[in-house]
Formats: sequence, C-alpha cells, structure tokens
Amino acid sequence: MQINFSGSTSSLIVSASEEIKKLQKETGKEYLFLNRGVNSVCNINLTQVIPKIDFNSDDVQVYPMARGRSGLRDAINKEYFNGKSNYNNIIITAGGISGLDISFQNIKVDKVLLPSFFWGTYTKVLTLRKTVYDFYDNIFELGERSDQLRNTAIVVCDPGNPLGIKDDDSAIVRVIKQLSDAGVIVIVDSPYRRIFYDNSDSFYHDIGMHENVIIVESFSKSVGLSGLRIGFIHSTDNVFKEEFAKRLLYATNGVNSFSQVLIENLLITPEGKKAVHDFKRKTSDDIALNIDYLIKLGLLPEELYDGRIPMGIFVTVNKTEEELLQYRIGSIPLTYFTEIHRDKAINYSRICVSITHEKFIKFFSPFKN
Ligand SMILES: Cc1ncc(COP(=O)(O)O)c(C=O)c1O
Repeated sequence: MQINFSGSTSSLIVSASEEIKKLQKETGKEYLFLNRGVNSVCNINLTQVIPKIDFNSDDVQVYPMARGRSGLRDAINKEYFNGKSNYNNIIITAGGISGLDISFQNIKVDKVLLPSFFWGTYTKVLTLRKTVYDFYDNIFELGERSDQLRNTAIVVCDPGNPLGIKDDDSAIVRVIKQLSDAGVIVIVDSPYRRIFYDNSDSFYHDIGMHENVIIVESFSKSVGLSGLRIGFIHSTDNVFKEEFAKRLLYATNGVNSFSQVLIENLLITPEGKKAVHDFKRKTSDDIALNIDYLIKLGLLPEELYDGRIPMGIFVTVNKTEEELLQYRIGSIPLTYFTEIHRDKAINYSRICVSITHEKFIKFFSPFKN
C-alpha cells in the first residue's frame, strides 16, 4: 500500500504509560501515572444525572446538528460567556484537539506562534497540517510588536502545560485585544482554566468578542470527561465559523449526541450543576495541596518559576524521569515540551498534580531529605 505520510510522530505520553504499566505488572507494586494528563483526584459523580437522559429518544440516537445542539450551545453561552455572547458564535467539537486541528486548517497565516514550553501535540497537529510554526517566550512582548505580526496566529495556553504558570488575567485581556486589533489571530486554548473558575468568571466574554480571537475549550479537563470527546469553539467571525462547520461536518458527521446531551444536563440541571461543582471543588483543593507540598519540598525549579506559584494540573519538577521512576512515579521529560529551551529542560520533568493529596504525599515524602 502506498501511504501519504503525515510527517508526525506518536505521543510519548501514551508509550510512557505502556512502559509504566509493564513495570507495575512485573514488580507487583503500585506506580503513580503522573505522566498522564487526566484528573485523578476523583471522577465526576454522574449518578443523579444519567437518569435524566432518555436513551430511547432521537436526542441520543439520531445524527446531531452540524454545529451541535442549540440547547447545549445556549447553555455554554450562559455558563462561559455570562449569557452575553450568542449561541451562533459557538460550535460543538469532538474535544479541544478537534477545535485546534480545524482552526489550524481554517486560517490562512504564514505561521503559528506557540509558547516556548508547550503541549507537544500542537506541533504534531501543525506538522500534520503542513503549517509552519515558531515559538515565543512572552506574550506581552508580542503585544508590543503586534504590527509586525500580520499573517500570524498566536496560541495562548493559560494556565500552561507543562509549567502550569498562570499570567494575570487583566494583562492577558489587554494584550489579546491589542493583538486582535492589529489583525493578529489569537487562539486561546486553556482547557485547565475552568477547573478553577465558575460561571462568574468574565474572562471568555472579555476576550471572546474581539474579531480575531478564537476560543477553543474542552470538557475533558474542566469536568473530567475526556472519554466523551467533546468541547467547543467560540468566534464572532461568520466566515471562519461557516468554513469551520463544513470541515467539522465532513470529518465527523456531527459530534456524539450522547456526549452533547450529557454535557447539556451537567450545565443546566440542578443535579448536573452540583456534580460539576463537587468535582471541581475536590479536584482544585487537592491540586492546591499537592503544589504546596512540592514547594515545601523544594521541588519546583526556581529558574523556571521565579517565585510564581503554578495553578494548573501540571507542574514541572527539578528531577529527571529516571529519578522519579526510582520512587515509582511516572513523568514526562520536560525536553518533550520545548524545542528552543532544551538546555534548560534537561534535568526536569512534567508531572500531573491532579491526584489525591494522600497518595501524593505517600509517593513524594521520600524527597523530604
Ligand atoms: C493544552 C491542551 N490543549 C488541548 C488539549 C486537548 O484535550 P481534548 O482533546 O481532550 O479536549 C489538551 C489535552 O491534554 C491540552 O493539554
């Protein structure tokens, strides 16, 4: 068979999990899979929500609308945009990755600028789509030279992956406006943000109404349902949305109806809202305790954090993958997350801190000495 090669490579995160599973089986000892990017403090409890869904209805069994259920898009407008945008600005996607992939296909730019420490999948998707990319260290510095950035798209991820650093919201809102006004496309991909914020947060409304801003969101992290493969994009550009909807339709025939109905129930019913609230509270509480513990142990590299306290589900620690594995902790080398700062990354690893505090202490306490 003749193959059109993608030019991309497989994910190290998946192969690391296979390796650790093997070690666990061979040794009969428990390992911590902190290499993965999933919330593991608790699952969201769907017990009260599932009985509300009629599985014998067209709602679940028939092709969904191309842009997604209008009830869900309306609920997203209320939950994420304080009800001040419009469901027409929202398209349901098959997770954040589908929103990113279709956005990258859809925009005509010379290059895409990524954070210098970035989620490795960005470059894999961009390679697959034959799109040129480069990196930036500081978004605020880009704002100052926005005039030179025409025909460029910038990806913003805050809190970031792999460092979990969160910039000041009002400063980001200002710089995004500056960039959008100068004609620069800004793709805001921050799937970790909404674990820590609720519907009183105005950030998405503050940035989302600008002409050149595309928001990519996901329900994988904020409500812990990565298996449902569902997210959304928000844009006010009608041509962008028309083309986006066509690409999505002909790639998927619509996003899984069951996932859409379930998320809609989570966003609008009292039982769903309670399930989301409880999940976020428990998850964010344990994440904060774990980060605090790492700081006390002196495991955050000062040269990267410079006194800043991370808030995402990921943190980078000043240990190598091998050092962590000695204590049965899975991680991913930081070199996987950067192309231009490999020298800085060489002795560090990314870990997921979304795990119960009790287990976290058990595995990290040997680093006390
Ligand atoms: C920064 C970032 N963006 C987007 C995603 C996409 O997630 P999903 O496709 O599950 O929504 C991830 C997943 O790990 C991520 O880390």
